[in-house]
Amino acid sequence: MKFFADTAEIDEIRELADTGLLDGVTTNPSLIMKSGRDIKEVTKEICALVDGPVSAETVALDAEGMIAEGRELAKIAENIAIKVPLTWAGIKACKVLSGEGRMVNVTLCFSANQAILAAKAGATFISPFIGRLDDINLDGMELIEDIRTIYDNYGFETQILAASIRSVNHIADSARVGADVITAPPAVIKKMVAHPLTDKGLDAFLADWGKTGQKIL
Ligand code: E4P
Repeated sequence: MKFFADTAEIDEIRELADTGLLDGVTTNPSLIMKSGRDIKEVTKEICALVDGPVSAETVALDAEGMIAEGRELAKIAENIAIKVPLTWAGIKACKVLSGEGRMVNVTLCFSANQAILAAKAGATFISPFIGRLDDINLDGMELIEDIRTIYDNYGFETQILAASIRSVNHIADSARVGADVITAPPAVIKKMVAHPLTDKGLDAFLADWGKTGQKIL
């Protein structure tokens, strides 16, 4: 399973990249707004920090506009994945941009039918938004499961990128149902390591080790 960081904050990305476990980054217009940075400048810095795909989102509403913006964003670095929304215009833009050999992330996916369209349009990634479905009392994880089944039925190579992740449980559940990638806020990814029994066990081991008076180095 690949880990992407869902942020445009350089310090957070650097900290995760230093672990060697970070496979990519996703941004969106809201995250760029929160960073307070210029989209091209900050995206270029992110692309230099991370070896894998860095999603940068278009904001045009028509296919021609999305294609032009996508080509412009792709000039930032080799590892740009152009993010387009799941509308007919976005699907059309995905088909054109993926046909040019570019990575495309189709975002704002909330149904299996939308995911089928993205795969047929050659998307590299489909981004189902788990948290936002859960927010309106629907089952985000069930959507991931459905897309997995459908993509496997037809051998679609589009990678399922579980997005809008709010908790560590979303990450384990996404892995369980076969998402290829998760994108999560760094704070959530960092929480994956936490377990009170690990802390308790470590304290006990260190206390006993102290009693031996030994050293390893
Ligand atoms: C995905 O690419 C999006 O940036 C993101 O996961 C949206 O998450 P949110 O619902 O927490 O805003």
